[in-house]
Amino acid sequence: MGRVPFELKGKSVFVAGHRGMVGGALVRRLAQERVDLLTVTRSEVDLCDQAAVQKWFAAKRPQVVFLAAAKVGGIVANNTLRAEFLFENLVIAANVIHAAHINNTEKLIFLGSSCIYPKLAPQPLREDYILTGPLEPTNEPYAIAKIAGIKMVEAYRNQYGSDFISVMPTNLYGPGDNYHPEYSHIVAALIRRFHEAKVSGAKNVVVWGTGTPRREFLYVDDLADACVHLMRTYSSDELVNIGTGEDITIAEFARLVAATVGFNGDISFDRSRPDGTPRKLLDISRLTSLGWRARTSLVHGIRSAYRAYLSECDLARGARMKQSDGGLGTSELRRPNQPEDKNRKLR
Ligand SMILES: NC(=O)c1ccc[n+]([C@@H]2O[C@H](COP(=O)([O-])OP(=O)(O)OC[C@H]3O[C@@H](n4cnc5c(N)ncnc54)[C@H](OP(=O)(O)O)[C@@H]3O)[C@@H](O)[C@H]2O)c1
Repeated sequence: MGRVPFELKGKSVFVAGHRGMVGGALVRRLAQERVDLLTVTRSEVDLCDQAAVQKWFAAKRPQVVFLAAAKVGGIVANNTLRAEFLFENLVIAANVIHAAHINNTEKLIFLGSSCIYPKLAPQPLREDYILTGPLEPTNEPYAIAKIAGIKMVEAYRNQYGSDFISVMPTNLYGPGDNYHPEYSHIVAALIRRFHEAKVSGAKNVVVWGTGTPRREFLYVDDLADACVHLMRTYSSDELVNIGTGEDITIAEFARLVAATVGFNGDISFDRSRPDGTPRKLLDISRLTSLGWRARTSLVHGIRSAYRAYLSECDLARGARMKQSDGGLGTSELRRPNQPEDKNRKLR
């Protein structure tokens, strides 16, 4: 099966989904390694197209794969686009994992998500709680597709001896996040909402729910570092949670984001909106026993994420101005991970 430590140096490494938040962080992290980085855009190879994926893998034969491509979004996107979340995530996982097997990829890491755990599982969530109870209904299609990906990794490992592993990250945030007003995750949504309130001089920002649920947040560059660490040091069919091991109430978190952004108005809570699970915290004892811990504090991470949001807004604004001058075309101007990209993608 797999040998550890696994040597990355000199290998051809494919980051699937390199224009996304996680893929972008992996590209930044892998720049510190001596690897031959392979990426491909969706317009060149749609990862839902099995023949195209197979052709690309046969031509490039990546030795290492980080599978960070997926259809991703917050609760509204997950609950509204249920068919797309199920279909696209199933097919991307099936196509990439199978092509990696056929083309003798030496090692693959599959990114799952903490939402694969049962809605009412005990806290903190241990890796062996998978498939022990019903899922949260709002993101069931996404979770089922992710569980199918995990089971593919496990089956290819057991049947063919493929050195494929699965990791379960907690809620992520950082540069390249999706700032769509409806379809984003909570961190990006709050950064945007507090920033817009500050700019418009609004006196109050409403946060969904009671503010009492507890959540865990991990800076995306820490996640990328953990993935590289596990790629090198881990080879087993058991999942590995990736988180900080610490959680915070939504109310405390909202106050932290407001303070970082410089919004001085009031924060109120819309109790008519659903809270979701009261607590969602990963048990990270397996990860820490493998010698990895997150380095970025929440305060520092939110500061960096807000800076990234501001520079992405500036770029998007610059691109719009150039276009109205009759300058470059949209595709030439659109940088990976711009908020506009995400809006377009999820509309
Ligand atoms: N964000 C989180 O809080 C979080 C938490 C836990 C786990 N994860 C996992 O981390 C992984 C990456 O998430 P993310 O937040 O980085 O998502 P993201 O920012 O939306 O990025 C997803 C990437 O996948 C690509 N992609 C999607 N469908 C594709 C297709 N059919 N063909 C080619 N490329 C396709 C996108 O390409 P385009 O740029 O062309 O759209 C994008 O580059 C996912 O597996 C997710 O489940 C994320």
